[in-house]
Amino acid sequence: MNLLVVGGGGREHALCWKLAQSPRLTRLVAAPGNPGMARHAACVAVSVDDHDGVVRLAERERADLVVVGPEVPLVAGLADRLRDKGFAVFGPGARAAAIEGSKAFSKDLMARHGIPTARFDTFDDPARARRFCRELGTPLVIKTDGLAAGKGAMICRTLPEADDAIAACMERRDFGVAGARVIVEEFLHGDEVSFFALVSGRRAVPLAAAEDHKAVFDGDRGPNTGGMGAFTPVFGFDAAMRERVMTTIVEPTIAALADEGAPYSGVLFVQLMLTADGPKIVEFNCRFGDPECQAILAPMDADLLPLLDAVARGAPLPAPEPATRAAVCVVVASGGYPGRYPTGVPIDGIDEAERVPGVVVFHAGTALRDGRSVTAGGRVLGVTATADGVPAAIEAAYAAAARIRFDGMHYRRDIGRRKAAQEAS
Ligand code: AMP
Ligand code: GLY
Repeated sequence: MNLLVVGGGGREHALCWKLAQSPRLTRLVAAPGNPGMARHAACVAVSVDDHDGVVRLAERERADLVVVGPEVPLVAGLADRLRDKGFAVFGPGARAAAIEGSKAFSKDLMARHGIPTARFDTFDDPARARRFCRELGTPLVIKTDGLAAGKGAMICRTLPEADDAIAACMERRDFGVAGARVIVEEFLHGDEVSFFALVSGRRAVPLAAAEDHKAVFDGDRGPNTGGMGAFTPVFGFDAAMRERVMTTIVEPTIAALADEGAPYSGVLFVQLMLTADGPKIVEFNCRFGDPECQAILAPMDADLLPLLDAVARGAPLPAPEPATRAAVCVVVASGGYPGRYPTGVPIDGIDEAERVPGVVVFHAGTALRDGRSVTAGGRVLGVTATADGVPAAIEAAYAAAARIRFDGMHYRRDIGRRKAAQEAS
């Protein structure tokens, strides 16, 4: 099969690395890809926002399947464009992708169908939003309706903080139009889990669960990032919990979308809070998580290509066997990230890191300059180790990360450690 993967981050590198292992693959092309992906795919400089360019590339390459990685092109309708041209696409159309693209749409859908989530209301008017904060009490969470690159959720411990978050979104317009409408919601207490299901219309099968680490510093301190590391499996997230999430969350959600004329096709990423009252939804995403994707694909035994292809074609979906091994992905970031950071900084040690058994280094923000790897983004590399059990994967990932060197680099030292300690006790 000829495949086109759209995207150029760590998630898409993991997808290409895994798809390249499939005996069914003939040719793999990535748009725009990155230097790490170039080991497995022909990278073509077409931006994910250039929908005409992506369609032309799919035509030129006679793509049998197009896999769209990031949320922005999905929310903007790239999968619809490709389907209209007759391509098989892994990824939802714009109407179903609104489950991530508009938090108001997603929360209203949950409310209408009794799908468990935090109590909330949606506001276009700051004064009414502030009044609802007083009714709800703190802590609470203010969220922008639209996409805000992972920075649109503000946890407010006091009412003045909530008032300021509302001002930032609705009065100062710090998030542009994404923040013109806000959701004010109850704060959920519990452990957070990223759960992934493959969905084709009214059919869904569980894929895997992982845990992300959003804050930039150890011990979950500092501002939120896109994700500083992830591991799988998640201790305590057993087969019974997986079934409960499928029946109380995934199945009613995809049925609701199909009933409303927006059938879902792709991977549904359910961000869950495991509360004392059971699993509740923090949010839905319309794509794989980054860096969760790196952690869940690394130990996966099943061939990913026929699974994605079955989803894209609406064919019967076999449930993949859960992976028997564990994996940990440690994100190595640029100095300053998630704030301002330099680019073009030379990177050493990637090959040495990959000599640690079980380790693969996924590229997220790198470029080649005069044949040398340099930094080109905030999250630069995802050092990912597969092993028997999370503790051994942690050891291997950190042994490998220690071999990577670039000016200003930083990474969390505690990815997976809290859960590994709980599991050991
Ligand atoms: P989101 O942008 O909705 O994914 O939120 C970013 C992060 O904020 C989540 O991963 C959670 O850690 C936290 N968060 C969002 N909503 C809530 C909530 N209702 N209760 C507790 N934490 C939340
Ligand atoms: N790691 C969280 C996300 O991809 O949204």
